[in-house]
Amino acid sequence: MAVNINPRRTPLIAGNWKMNLDHLQAIAFVQKLAWNLKDANHDFAAVEVAVFPPFTDLRSVQTLVSADKLPLAFGAQDMSARDSGAYTGEISGAFLAQLECQYVIIGHSERRTLHNESDEQVAAKVTAAVKHNLVPLICVGESAEDLATHGPSAVPVAQLRAALAGVTNAADIVVAYEPVWAIGSGQAATPDQAEQVAAALRGVLTETLGQDVADKTRILYGGSVKSGNIAAFMREPNVDGALVGGASLDIVEFSGIIRYHKHVGL
Ligand code: 13P
Repeated sequence: MAVNINPRRTPLIAGNWKMNLDHLQAIAFVQKLAWNLKDANHDFAAVEVAVFPPFTDLRSVQTLVSADKLPLAFGAQDMSARDSGAYTGEISGAFLAQLECQYVIIGHSERRTLHNESDEQVAAKVTAAVKHNLVPLICVGESAEDLATHGPSAVPVAQLRAALAGVTNAADIVVAYEPVWAIGSGQAATPDQAEQVAAALRGVLTETLGQDVADKTRILYGGSVKSGNIAAFMREPNVDGALVGGASLDIVEFSGIIRYHKHVGL
């Protein structure tokens, strides 16, 4: 089966640390990850690597990446839709841009479920991220109930349409399809399921932002990705990488995911 070799889409392997690793642990982790990948002669131009630490780690990660010129991208796990003001506890996209964050995760299912984030709030955050020159990594995905009631694509497609409400076709975005039932469950979607939804999401991108943007936008799969199952996802034509949770906290596992084409002979 053909590997995803669309020259317009560099595969992206992204590690969402969630609420794990303090800033001291983050420094040690990022250093070790970079050494491990360097030792393995990882080609960062061929497969991009990004980490998403907690807010309190970002300054330390930025300092390390900049001082050691590490070829790693990094970003935040969320941001405010507002620029500044009386919003206790919130973090502005302007602050993240100052910290040289390239990306910001928006609309992760844990934010949608545990913090009641609506499609409208997700859309406002996406618009704000683009305004601050951050690349929003927009998460969409259906719950087990949604899957049973509506099938696999309906909810992610509706969520993406809503999230793009304020985005123009000049914007640089990444989309992550993360079925809620697959997150942290050990039960990943099948590559076929991921491809079916990713193709539908690319259809939304074509419809809303045009063919050119749809062709160059990366669509990631997330949910129980491991070094042992990544290769099958990466063989799918519309899957351009992965958003990894638990396995991104284990350097050997995460490196194995990043180097997917090595250990499976793709
Ligand atoms: P797991 O890889 O732990 O299933 O988490 C996926 C996820 O939520 C990444 O954002």
